[in-house]
Amino acid sequence: MKPLRIEIHNLGAIPYANIDLTNTTLAAICGVNGAGKSTAFTVAPRFALYGATKPGTSIDDMIRTGATEAAVNFYFDHQGGTYRVIRTRSKKGKGKTTLELQKAKNTLLLDGSLDWESLSGASISETQKKIIDLLGLDDETFVASSMILQGDSGNFTKRPAGQRKAILSQVLQLDQYETLQDKAKAKAGEVNLTLEKSKAKVADIDTRLAEKPILESDKLAAEVKLAKTETDIQSLEENVQTLQVAYSALVAKIQQAEDINRQAKEKWADVGSKTSERDRQQGRMDNAQKLLDREADILTKVAAYDTTKDTVTALRVKRDQQAALKNEADRLKNEQLTVEAGLAKVIADINRIAGQIADRPRLEAAKAEYDTAVARLPECQKELEEDKRLLSAVKDCQDKLFQTEDRYIGQEQIHKQNIESLEANTAMLADANCVDLDNAQCKFLANAIKDKDKLVNAREQYSVWKVRADQEISDLQTAVKAAKNKRAEYWAAANINPLEPHELQEKINQLKTDVELLAKLAAMEPLLDNLKLQRTDLETRQADINVRLENMRNQYRELSDGLKELPAMEIKLTELEPWLRSKEQLPAAKEIANTARETIDRLKTEINDLTIQVVNLETEYKTLMGDSETLKQDAEKRLKEAQDSLKQCRDEHLSLTGRLGGIRAKLVLMEDDEKTRQSLMGEMEPLAKELVRWQTLVKAFGKDGIPALIIENAVPELERIANDILGQMSGGKNYLRFETQRELKSGKGMTETLDIIVGDWAGERIYETFSGGEQLRIDFAIRFALAELLARRAGSKIDWIVVDEGIGSQDAHHRELVLQAIKGVSDRFSMILVITHIEEAQKFFEQTIHFDVSGEDERIIQVA
Ligand SMILES: Nc1ncnc2c1ncn2[C@@H]1O[C@H](COP(=O)(O)OP(=O)(O)OP(=O)(O)O)[C@@H](O)[C@H]1O
Ligand SMILES: [Mg+2]
Repeated sequence: MKPLRIEIHNLGAIPYANIDLTNTTLAAICGVNGAGKSTAFTVAPRFALYGATKPGTSIDDMIRTGATEAAVNFYFDHQGGTYRVIRTRSKKGKGKTTLELQKAKNTLLLDGSLDWESLSGASISETQKKIIDLLGLDDETFVASSMILQGDSGNFTKRPAGQRKAILSQVLQLDQYETLQDKAKAKAGEVNLTLEKSKAKVADIDTRLAEKPILESDKLAAEVKLAKTETDIQSLEENVQTLQVAYSALVAKIQQAEDINRQAKEKWADVGSKTSERDRQQGRMDNAQKLLDREADILTKVAAYDTTKDTVTALRVKRDQQAALKNEADRLKNEQLTVEAGLAKVIADINRIAGQIADRPRLEAAKAEYDTAVARLPECQKELEEDKRLLSAVKDCQDKLFQTEDRYIGQEQIHKQNIESLEANTAMLADANCVDLDNAQCKFLANAIKDKDKLVNAREQYSVWKVRADQEISDLQTAVKAAKNKRAEYWAAANINPLEPHELQEKINQLKTDVELLAKLAAMEPLLDNLKLQRTDLETRQADINVRLENMRNQYRELSDGLKELPAMEIKLTELEPWLRSKEQLPAAKEIANTARETIDRLKTEINDLTIQVVNLETEYKTLMGDSETLKQDAEKRLKEAQDSLKQCRDEHLSLTGRLGGIRAKLVLMEDDEKTRQSLMGEMEPLAKELVRWQTLVKAFGKDGIPALIIENAVPELERIANDILGQMSGGKNYLRFETQRELKSGKGMTETLDIIVGDWAGERIYETFSGGEQLRIDFAIRFALAELLARRAGSKIDWIVVDEGIGSQDAHHRELVLQAIKGVSDRFSMILVITHIEEAQKFFEQTIHFDVSGEDERIIQVA
């Protein structure tokens, strides 16, 4: 890769810069601190290619203060093509990044500019991957191999040995072998799996096939046995058939004998039934003859029955008449009772009403009395009310008097008790014999003297109270008298009897019935007439019923006389009744007597014939049966045994056929297995070869394979270039070498490493023991060597290098040597850029790129 142009918008301190590097080969970059040199040549290309920023800053920190969007367009040649990468970053909203990878077409546009085609992916990460694949480097290796950043010259040398080796591996593109090894492993795994599956199948088949010889011998044995059972079955079948025929013949003979025996039994049964028929006929004939012997007697009795029956029938008619008569008489008697009761009630009503009508004058007098009492009652009640009020006034005065008297009795008692107590207290004064009572000092006497004063007061109070109380009681007594007088005066003026209202009420209650009776009296006269008519009517009905009842009694008596002989007649009739049935049986008896004899004779002949037949049949049965039953049982037993043997033989045949079928099916499957095994073995051979090939490749692509070889080859190359440069820089004083393996501290074997051993006139020491200035020269030498190694690498040529400061740490002598060395290797790269403030260095290079910060919107860059 060789940069052609870096176009910057708002990145770090740079508002805009467009740096054309087409013709730059070896140049010093100058400008004041903060001019943007590092930003333009180390940050901007990495920002465009990888989105990298200065250490410790975010992508948004890289957007120039005051701007919202930064962009870098990085143009470069790579592997014969011209490319540009454009990355933008906007702070607007949540922030947005765009990334575009383009390749110049071979044609130029009319204005002389290039025509671009996009190689970008569908997403930023895809485009990013395409850039990494195109350069064959990630940011870290890009920096390690093409940039010596400001203050970071030891980026490679100061890393741990493992990381150094990793960077070297990436520079040498050894990671591709990891990918190749993974692919080879996957392939080997696939082939191995197929092979193992086939092996397992073959093992399975072999296990099954191991059974084959046993199965084949089993098959042979089974076939021989089967043939023998078939012959056995044939001879057993013949035997069974012969026995079956003999057995059937015996069964048929016994059947015939049993048929005859059955016939004999049937005929014997016939004899039995005919004998009982004969006996029955004999009985009938005997009964009929007995009846016929009594014929004359029967006829006489039947004639007597007929006569008796006529008499009984006539008497029964009369008995029915008598019963009807009794019913009618009973009904009339009931009617008679009803009429009598109705008549008694009508007569009672007539008497009661007639009496009431006759009582009219008394009722009218009662009515007058009733009216007077009713009129007087309210007046009386009013007077009584006034008396009640006057009585209540008397009672009130009396109550008041009694209450006051009670109260005064209590109060008087208190007064009297007080006086009595004070009198008792003062009584000791009379017995004291004190010389000066008025001035007595003893406590008892002093209290007595005080109580004496109190007694005077108490007596005064009591007499005042008594006068007032007596007065009050006398006033109340006067009031009671006045009230009583008032009531007495009222009674005298009113002149009434206090019991009168009560008497009046009682009188009204008593007279009320008479008054109501009088009110009803008007309607009673027509009622009386009506009742009298009813009485006449009922009396007529009563007389009529009496006459009819008398007639009936006479008729009943007459009928009773005639009916006296009926019970005896009825008994006689019942006794004679059986003769009727005997008479009815006479014709049949005559018929039986005529026909039964014939039937009996016929039956006797038939019974004789049948008995002879039975005897003949029984003889025939015995002859046929003989010892047939024993023979049959014997034949049956032998037949059963033969059948069992045949069944056993057949079962064995069936089981042998089944077993043979199973063996044959297994053998058929084994034939398939053999074919499958053959084809599997055919497939497995090339697979095994393929597996060996893949396993060889896995080993070859492994760490100890091709990558180890490459490193082993590359390390001497790196040493050689680095020593070339270091020799120049140190004036031939120093040399270096790499150690890729180191003995383990335990002494048990070696470990992988990439140690840097530096030698000088005093001997060899590790890098870390050298001074800062010395280390810088070693750093430069190795970094340049790495860059050259990378540049030489086929397919990924990073053909430029930037050195950002660092030379300042060298003394004047060595500064010159370092610069000479840089110049010396410049022909190995298409471009070397050295950022430096050292004027002497600036003069050393043919080209100078000046950064002028005066432009407000643009860094003015002069390439001289
Ligand atoms: N986002 C930003 N906006 C504006 N200025 C910024 C931003 N980020 C960094 N700067 C400024 O950019 C300058 C750093 O640029 P740079 O490191 O490229 O300068 P330099 O030319 O390499 O300087 P020196 O000679 O000191 O190495 C500093 O002045 C820093 O303050
Ligand atoms: Mg700088």
